[in-house]
Amino acid sequence: MLRPWTHQLAVLHMQKRTEMFDTPSKRALVPFISVESTLSLIFTLGFDRCLFEITDAIAEAFTRWNDFETIPRVASHSSMGVIELMPTTDGTDYSFKYVNGHPINASRGLQTVAAFGVLASVETGYPKLIAEMTLLTAMRTAAMSALATRTLARKDSHIAAIIGNGAQSEFQIRALATVCGIKKFQLYDIDTNATRRCIKNLSNHKLCLTACSSTEEAVLGADVITTCTADKAYQTILTDNLIGKGVHVNAIGGDCPGKTELHRDVLLRSDIFVEYAPQTRLEGEIQQLDEDFPVTEIWQVLTGSADGRKSPGQITVFDGVGFAIEDFAALRWLEQNLGNKSQAQNLDLIADPNESKDLYGMICRFMSRAKNIEPI
Ligand SMILES: NC(=O)c1ccc[n+]([C@@H]2O[C@H](COP(=O)([O-])OP(=O)(O)OC[C@H]3O[C@@H](n4cnc5c(N)ncnc54)[C@H](O)[C@@H]3O)[C@@H](O)[C@H]2O)c1
Repeated sequence: MLRPWTHQLAVLHMQKRTEMFDTPSKRALVPFISVESTLSLIFTLGFDRCLFEITDAIAEAFTRWNDFETIPRVASHSSMGVIELMPTTDGTDYSFKYVNGHPINASRGLQTVAAFGVLASVETGYPKLIAEMTLLTAMRTAAMSALATRTLARKDSHIAAIIGNGAQSEFQIRALATVCGIKKFQLYDIDTNATRRCIKNLSNHKLCLTACSSTEEAVLGADVITTCTADKAYQTILTDNLIGKGVHVNAIGGDCPGKTELHRDVLLRSDIFVEYAPQTRLEGEIQQLDEDFPVTEIWQVLTGSADGRKSPGQITVFDGVGFAIEDFAALRWLEQNLGNKSQAQNLDLIADPNESKDLYGMICRFMSRAKNIEPI
């Protein structure tokens, strides 16, 4: 509920804007892409096209890796979860994402992962857009798994296991289907309702979706295994005996210190690919290994400076924790698709007086104009 004076100001703001306030400059108004705007963009473009384009946008950004400033994200841990800031820049644009990871939230009716982000101009430092990123994170995470799968899995892969059927699962399945052509999925979650919801939500997509009663059953015959469970603990979702030759694993649920999904022995038998090694060594599956255990950053494979899969029998693990460049690419994709910006609302976000040094003057002008206006 608004306080009376706030409410009165809001009403005045609406009705008397031109009389009371400096007219905001073009740069003061920052497009805000709300959840509704994102949903409307997905509706306009089609979900598959969004996933395809975000996958390609991430691939494009990764191939010019050296243009970017790279630092591990800044994490604030609590007993309940983590809140993280993920910044990067390519020298032209700057972006950051605010994101949490609270596995306990599902039991409170909240999202495990919620996010928003900003894309800004390096030249002026002014924001170019501010966006919801809960949906966008789910799309870019799925796109990243699909990119890793397209890059590293056997080309004849046609069955995927999805372990953990929560909020991310439909996105992961749709991206693997769209980008990698996989149509058969074997699903397992300790919560049978989660698996049921996932299958129901995807029932119109000509996919073959099977609910399994254990991880063992789900991974049987799978060429690709994606683990996207949530628990703030060292879990053992996949043990060594479950991983056959030639399998590609996307391990994306272990993304924090003390939060993993794979048994160490799986990692020791695999070739491991990561987004950004300094961050993944803190947060990913490889936190279980020695600091100098060899891993390959995926951008190196995409640029041809390192090998990806070398043989059909090789086990490849994408130890995905989520990296700032993926969010940068997703935000840039969003900006490019806003077109005439009709999908965005303008936020009066930056105090931007006509005379740059006269910031205080905005307050003076407001005060003197406000005095002459009858309260409503
Ligand atoms: N790598 C990334 O870029 C990235 C991005 C987003 C989310 N994540 C992570 O992905 C995970 C999933 O996110 P979400 O939003 O879908 O969470 P969610 O809470 O909605 O779903 C997690 C699911 O995992 C299931 N689960 C937990 N333990 C299990 C087990 N032992 N076996 C099988 N299922 C189990 C839960 O029942 C739940 O349905 C989280 O850990 C999140 O932090 C990673």
